[in-house]
Amino acid sequence: MRILVTGSSGLVGRYVVDELARGHEVHMLDLHSPHRRDLIFHQIDLLDSEASRRVIAGYDVVVHLAGIPHPLNDPPERVFQTNTLATFNLLEACALNNVRRCIFLSSESTLGFAFSTTKMAPEYVPIDERHPLRPQDPYGLSKLSCELLCQGYTLKTGMQTLCLRPPWIWVPEPKEIEVYRGLVRDYPLWYKNLWAYIHVTDVAQAIHLCVESASLPLHDVYFICADDNWTSVESRTLMQKFYPETAVFSDSFVGMASLISNEKARRAFGFQPRFLSTDFL
Ligand SMILES: NC(=O)c1ccc[n+]([C@@H]2O[C@H](COP(=O)([O-])OP(=O)(O)OC[C@H]3O[C@@H](n4cnc5c(N)ncnc54)[C@H](O)[C@@H]3O)[C@@H](O)[C@H]2O)c1
Repeated sequence: MRILVTGSSGLVGRYVVDELARGHEVHMLDLHSPHRRDLIFHQIDLLDSEASRRVIAGYDVVVHLAGIPHPLNDPPERVFQTNTLATFNLLEACALNNVRRCIFLSSESTLGFAFSTTKMAPEYVPIDERHPLRPQDPYGLSKLSCELLCQGYTLKTGMQTLCLRPPWIWVPEPKEIEVYRGLVRDYPLWYKNLWAYIHVTDVAQAIHLCVESASLPLHDVYFICADDNWTSVESRTLMQKFYPETAVFSDSFVGMASLISNEKARRAFGFQPRFLSTDFL
């Protein structure tokens, strides 16, 4: 298949390009220079609708990663505008140029916990795709808006749009691994993160599976995450201490089980995370 990856020069994009290039013709799109010279690269700002329409043509699948990945370094209006307008322009270009499948990297931030300013607790654990979505911040709101844009374009054009929701994406790079070790020491500070994460190569694996699956619905959303929480504390103990309001636990919520379920992705496209937090720490 011929696949375009947007955000290809970013932290996650580089791994996704390398994974998909083993078996597909991959092109890259970003504001910044690419990490490899052997693939076609479009240096395009997705906020430019005309440029987007010009280059997003002739692809079987578009994997959309480009955007601002959290709300902490930019003014709120820039985070919201960049993520939503880039996604709108991308979907419009896909529709005009008859791209049949778009895989969008959404976020667990659609739930609203990660950057919330008012306290909220899970209604039940593990959280799945039926859990209420209550984002309060420009990033979570932008990602939820983008999911709605995907749904709208599917309804309008029949283009398939699959939205994957990873939590914090961990990369196997020495500087970052030091950060993760610090997190584990300070885990009580990170309750809003739900102590959830996913290895970047498992994100790439999930995208690869979605690219190649022929049996997925025209539009859907999936949480993708590792199987464990990263604290080295049992998950029910974490819940009692940090979220005592939550009273509903599934039978499978035992040991170090992640507070977010990846069950739907497992069933739908055979997602199987290969890494646990102990592989980093
Ligand atoms: N990193 C995480 O922990 C995490 C977690 C959940 C979801 N995500 C999502 O994954 C995706 C990739 O995140 P990342 O961590 O690699 O971020 P990143 O900032 O490293 O990469 C994003 C890339 O998008 C490009 N980009 C931004 N605006 C653009 C525009 N207008 N036109 C073209 N390119 C543009 C940037 O140049 C950058 O290379 C994002 O959509 C993010 O929201 C990331």
